[in-house]
Amino acid sequence: MAKLTVNELNLLGKRVFTRVDYNVPMEESGGAMVINDDTRILATLPTLKLMINSGAKIILTAHLGRPKGERVPSMSLRPVADKLAGLIGQSVDFCDQCIGQAARDAAAKLEDGGLLLLENVRYHAEEELNDADFAGQLAGDADVFTNDAFGAAHRAHASTAGVAGIIAARGGQCAAGLLMERELQFLGDELEAPERPFVVILGGAKVSDKIKVIDHLLEKADTIIIGGAMAYTFKLARGFAVGDSLVEPDKTGIAQAALEKAAERGVKFLLPTDNIISRMNDGTWADPKVNSAEDIPDGSEGVDIGPESVARFCEVIAGAKTILWNGPMGIFEDSRFAKGTFSVAKAVCEATASGAKSIIGGGDSVKALNVAGLGDQVTFMSTGGGASLKFLEGKELPGVAALTDK
Ligand code: 3PG
Repeated sequence: MAKLTVNELNLLGKRVFTRVDYNVPMEESGGAMVINDDTRILATLPTLKLMINSGAKIILTAHLGRPKGERVPSMSLRPVADKLAGLIGQSVDFCDQCIGQAARDAAAKLEDGGLLLLENVRYHAEEELNDADFAGQLAGDADVFTNDAFGAAHRAHASTAGVAGIIAARGGQCAAGLLMERELQFLGDELEAPERPFVVILGGAKVSDKIKVIDHLLEKADTIIIGGAMAYTFKLARGFAVGDSLVEPDKTGIAQAALEKAAERGVKFLLPTDNIISRMNDGTWADPKVNSAEDIPDGSEGVDIGPESVARFCEVIAGAKTILWNGPMGIFEDSRFAKGTFSVAKAVCEATASGAKSIIGGGDSVKALNVAGLGDQVTFMSTGGGASLKFLEGKELPGVAALTDK
């Protein structure tokens, strides 16, 4: 169902309660919390600029970390207000409360085109409980709700879902922000009717995290490529030895079912045929080497895909017209085991340069592309982690469902 978007609203002088995903990585430095990666803040600027230019009074709300209803000082959003002000080039008021008189007063002071960021909504346990009274307090006197927090849209919380119900009940509109719209377009519409061949590349540690995504994409893809530790559960299901590799032995049944579904539907399902193996010695990886056999010897773990698999996967990627990639091929944080992931990243970018549409499903693949300096060479990188996966399972996200239908 198509949802109302922010550029269809008349926002002049309106109080706009806006949910953003500013759950950004931070670390302590010199007694202050410093933001390590501002991608999620940058991603909201188009929506914020549009609303500023439309004369909206913008009340931003977000969560940071999982403080579980406690006021944890290291999870304050105050540094985000300063960062946002620098990036957008205008002052951003900060209120150290997200509800109550202080928050109401701060919102009332906003001028047209002004920005206010409220403190971490998860300082209140009622947020995650989607408590109706708390949602009402958050909504305050807002006229309109906009949601640009795709990364939090899989949570049915007060600030993502409850508040929309309150504002809608007052006759207010609830619209997707521009980032939310793009996420839904690329992870949703573009993959519904992809240009073919449609190649899906999935990696990461666990089959159990991605089996529903695999199941859903088996209905759409021409080829599914599997790398990362989850490949070893599939290999186990096929009867190969996996040595000491990370596996989920209790998930071989669902892996086998996915392999059978692929065969029935004529979807090519590619697993690595060789690997880089290593063994853990006193907490460090030792003796990395290529294992050209399908079986992995006892005492060794598969830590990356091998050269033959790299060549085969990259050849398939080169022929794709639509690519979805989620999850690394190995332990790419260790440069000895990064070749598989970076080769896939390069192949995805080369295919994009030749006209393919490449969609990166968030999380570690985004990290890998950025580390390789290739982040600007793909069609779209999702800002969602868990939300992208839920959406790729074909599920409607509560934060999206709550928005006004067109
Ligand atoms: C994320 O970082 O994936 C989102 O901000 C959601 O965070 P959560 O998993 O703590 O709900």
